[in-house]
Formats: sequence, C-alpha cells, structure tokens
Amino acid sequence: MSLATNHTSMVPRILIVDDDPAILKSIQRFLRPHPYWVFSAASAAEGMEILKTEGPFHLVISDYLMPDTTGDKFLHDVAITWPDVRRVILSAYADRSVLLSAINEGGVHRFLTKPWHTRKLLEVIEELVADYDAEESARAGIRELAQKHQLLVVTNQQLEDLVSQRTTDLEQHRQQLQEANSQLRQLGSHMEELREDERRSIAREIHDELAQSLSAIKLDVSTLLNKVKEPKLHSSLGGIKEQVDHTLATIQRILAALRPVVLDELGLAAALEWLASDFSRRNCIPVTLNCSLDSKLVPIQIATSIFRITQEAFTNIMRHSGAYRATLRAWQEDDIIYLVIEDNGIGIPDKENRRPNSFGILGMQERAALCNGSLSVSSLESGGTQVMLQIPGDPVRETIP
Ligand SMILES: Nc1ncnc2c1ncn2[C@@H]1O[C@H](COP(=O)(O)OP(=O)(O)OP(=O)(O)O)[C@@H](O)[C@H]1O
Ligand SMILES: [Mg+2]
Repeated sequence: MSLATNHTSMVPRILIVDDDPAILKSIQRFLRPHPYWVFSAASAAEGMEILKTEGPFHLVISDYLMPDTTGDKFLHDVAITWPDVRRVILSAYADRSVLLSAINEGGVHRFLTKPWHTRKLLEVIEELVADYDAEESARAGIRELAQKHQLLVVTNQQLEDLVSQRTTDLEQHRQQLQEANSQLRQLGSHMEELREDERRSIAREIHDELAQSLSAIKLDVSTLLNKVKEPKLHSSLGGIKEQVDHTLATIQRILAALRPVVLDELGLAAALEWLASDFSRRNCIPVTLNCSLDSKLVPIQIATSIFRITQEAFTNIMRHSGAYRATLRAWQEDDIIYLVIEDNGIGIPDKENRRPNSFGILGMQERAALCNGSLSVSSLESGGTQVMLQIPGDPVRETIP
C-alpha cells in the first residue's frame, strides 16, 4: 500500500487492487496530479484490510484475475460490507462470460479493459466519485430530514404530554370549583332555611307575646272607656286606645314582612294574591294576577323562594320602574313551575349600566338556582321589565297545617 497524495480525509479515497506492481505504480503515477487519495493493494486480502482500516472509500478498482480470487468475487464481498462504494474492474480479460459475471457477481459499476486509455479511466473515476458524492449528500439530506422528523415527533409528543397534563389540571380545577360551588350553594341553602326558621320564630314570638299583650291592653282600655265618664280621662283613654291600634297595625306589618302567615297557613297561591294586593294598595300600581298554581303541590321551600322572589320583583318595580301597571302570572306545566312578573315601566338597564353593589337580582337568581331553577330579568320590547322564573316542581307535597 502507498499514499499517492497528501490529501486530507475529505478527499475521495480510491483503492486499486492488482497483483502486478507495475500496473499499481502506473495508475498511481497517473493519478498523482488529481485530487484523490490513492491506496493500492497487491491482493484481494490486502485490499479488504485497507478497506477496513482506511475507509470510507469512494471507489475500488480491481484486477480480474488475482492469485487469491477473481475481481468479481472480491468486489462482491466488498459490496456486501460497503454497498455504497463504487466498483470497477480493470482486466485484460474482456470476454462475455467474464463481463457478465463481473456485473452479476460483483455488482460492478464499470468494466474497463487493459491496456486502458488514461483519459477514459480518468473520466470513469470522476464520474463514479461524483456519483458517490451525490448519493452521499442525498443520504445526508435524508439523515438530516429523519433527524428533524425525529425531533418533530419528540417535540410533538412533549406538546401532547403538556396539553394532556394541562387538560388534566384544568379538569381537576374545574371539579374543585364545581365542588366548592356546590358546597357554597348547600351552605347558602342551609343559611336560607335558618333565616326563614328564625324569621318564623321571631314572628311567632312577636305575635304571641307583643300582639297578644297589646290586644289585652286594648281590651282593658276599651272596658275602661265604657266605664269612665270624666271627659278629660275619657279623652286620654281614647288617645291610648288609638296609639295601641296604631302599634298593633305596625306589628301586623312587621309580622307580614317577617313571615306572612298566609304563606304558612294558606299556601303559595293565596300568599301571591295577598302580596299583589298589598303591593297595589301601598303603591297605587294595580297588579293583574293570574295564578293557576295548586298550592298543595308546591313544597314549602320552593313556595318560600317564589314568595321572596316575588317580593323583590315588586320592590324593584316600586323603586326603579316608574310603571303604572304590573302583571303576575304563575302556572305549572309538565312539572315545571313558571312565574312571570311584568311591568310597563322604563325597562331594565344593561348589566354594565346598573347600580354597582346591588344584590336584589343576584339574590333572586341564587334562590332560583338553589331550587335547581333559573331566573332571567330582561326588558320587554313593548317597554317595561320582565322577570321570568322556572323551577322544577317537586313531587313532595306541601303540607298545610
Ligand atoms: N322593574 C325594573 N324596572 C327598571 N329597572 C329595574 C327593575 N328592576 C331592577 N331594575 C334595575 O336593575 C338594577 C339592579 O336591581 P337589583 O334588585 O339587583 O338591585 P337594587 O334594587 O338596585 O338594589 P338592592 O340590592 O337593594 O335590591 C336596579 O338598580 C335598577 O336599575
Ligand atoms: Mg332590588
């Protein structure tokens, strides 16, 4: 083996295998001015060794008849280990069978005959080296593409992992929020029940203690009035009786606001009727009532919620609407209770134009939600405001004492 030029490792490597040292020398001399790194071997075995230790090679040029083997067999072995290496046979034997065997067995790319034309040999070398380089750069491109593809696959996987992690986190947060929300609702519902109970017991106490005693006082004063003839005393007793009457009326109002007896005793339909007529009387706004609810079918919690919602809707009409007429409709259809309260006032402003820190509508909506229902407040096209409530009726029957 000998080094023909002083090229770097990037320089194409060519191996020439021939048992004739004169041929090796001649080719080396001929290739010296050209940009190749030329190795030579006197046998196939030596050639194999050089291929193993000095590769990678662009091109192997082999003699056909060699002491240890033939060129086609040698190149066949070369192709098995280094399939990309370009392979050329340079032989004095140019008969058909040798040519065929070289192509079939050795998978050779060119077959040149001795003596060779130097121009032709150089052309073949240049062409096959360029071929090898083109193929190699295509392979490098494919390798690069494969690497990029792999990178994409990994990045994609990481993204998918991230998205799935985020989705899991979001789902967890959503569930936690939902739980917190439902706990808040339960708490709200419980607080509401407590408030109603408390109102009921305060109302009972005021009724039993205060109203009863005042009634007794009123009776005593009336008896005295009948007995006392002295004008000054009679007039004072008359004043006391008037004051007692006035206080009794105030107590009745407080009692009605705390817990209208009518709701507990006569049920929702009667309570709505009372509410509408009380509102009309106080505010001089007539209310047209159309209620076909069967009070016995409305559970007391739902009845209380509907009652409180109606109270707030009427208060809003009184405070904000400027209406001179209102309607209240309540009915049940397919197990859903509907309540619609409308006025002919100025209509409801958009959410962003409403007064901040107002909780009436929010409270109505919360009450509706506690009963698994929904409540909307909107402006009517004809002018005025509509409050619409829908609550699933409960099969549990209200018990009216
Ligand atoms: N029937 C109505 N007609 C016109 N505007 C209304 C009517 N009902 C409500 N509004 C408007 O909606 C706003 C919000 O009503 P909401 O009941 O929530 O609060 P509020 O009545 O202002 O205060 P509060 O918290 O004491 O109830 C009111 O300030 C008012 O501007
Ligand atoms: Mg209000």
